[in-house]
Amino acid sequence: MENKDLLSPLKLGDLTLKNRIIMSPMTRTRVNNRDVLLPIAAEYYRQRAGAGLIISEATYITPGGKVRTSQPGIFTKEQVTAWKKVTDAVHAEGGFIFAQLAHSGRSAIPEYNDGLPAVAPSALIFDSGAHGSVAEKGLEPAIPKALTLDEIKNLIETYRQAGQNAKEAGFDGVELHAGNAGLVEQFLHGVSNIRSDQYGGSLENRARFLLEVIDALISVFGKDKVGLRLSPHDRLSDQHDPDPIATTTFLTKEMTKRGIAYINLLEPHNKFDDYIPYPEGDPETLENVRKQFSGVIIANGGYDKASGNEALENNKADAIAFARLFLANPDLPHRFKHDLPLNQPDRSTYYGNSETGYLDYPFWEKAN
Ligand SMILES: Cc1cc2nc3c(=O)[nH]c(=O)nc-3n(C[C@H](O)[C@H](O)[C@H](O)COP(=O)(O)O)c2cc1C
Repeated sequence: MENKDLLSPLKLGDLTLKNRIIMSPMTRTRVNNRDVLLPIAAEYYRQRAGAGLIISEATYITPGGKVRTSQPGIFTKEQVTAWKKVTDAVHAEGGFIFAQLAHSGRSAIPEYNDGLPAVAPSALIFDSGAHGSVAEKGLEPAIPKALTLDEIKNLIETYRQAGQNAKEAGFDGVELHAGNAGLVEQFLHGVSNIRSDQYGGSLENRARFLLEVIDALISVFGKDKVGLRLSPHDRLSDQHDPDPIATTTFLTKEMTKRGIAYINLLEPHNKFDDYIPYPEGDPETLENVRKQFSGVIIANGGYDKASGNEALENNKADAIAFARLFLANPDLPHRFKHDLPLNQPDRSTYYGNSETGYLDYPFWEKAN
């Protein structure tokens, strides 16, 4: 029988990952005032190259699409060059890295987006559950401008260009961020999408934007190098899917048709987790996605070594993404392998601009 614990290898398209421990995307905001990653980012990612696969922090694809006050972009030459230093560092250590491509849609604040208006499927503002710069700065969300059909078409081309840029920057593939209240999710959910054209209304229509972006990314990287990130239980910024089973069924069937590399599913398993509370009454979606999708499933949300191995052994997923544990333990696979104690993450340094809480989490072997 196939050995499927966290430390066993995994085929992902034509890549062979050395283990099934994935570094989950994490925004760390170590950028300059042009949203270019600081040189320290190469060292941060290099430290974590023991992961089977690193998924980069959300990198925004175009001016106006930034959720925090500062975040790396992937649309200027300078930004792409900085990302290349990261991918080179990861590859030098024998690791693989995908870029997470993001657009914040209505969560953007013009003040931190060169004065550009926030854009969204519909001109609907959210009342609660703010994150990013809105929460960070105690600001009111901006009323977004509803995208025209031409603008939607242009945005899909912008995603394609971001895919090209990711390729130029040396990434092994791309992950479309379709969760966490970003633009793609805003199209998916009726609560933020009341369009009456082909991008609104039925589930098929609300999913159209996502599918067209996925197809654009496949046109750049090929299906084996494209992943999809979903968070079906999202409640950030008023997002809510009243029927996550229907949505994930439709999307996973479409992804199976296309044969993409993986689906990365954030499903809060730990119902007492303060970072990602599990919404009361929501059905679990992992099993449903597993049933419908023939590619690799990366499960995420509150896992540790034991629960990760259990999910793999019970064939619920093929790999597990760890965020906070990887943030605090650059040598997480080594620690798992030898059952070593774990460093605890310090929330106060998640974001910011400093090396503290970024480069200085100790490696077990160096500290002991
Ligand atoms: C500091 C921080 C930044 C994050 N940034 C992103 C991001 O850029 N993109 C994303 O999809 N998820 C982001 N997340 C969510 C994580 O990838 C992950 O889904 C969540 O932390 C649950 O996994 P965990 O229980 O292993 O920490 C972030 C989480 C943290 C702690």
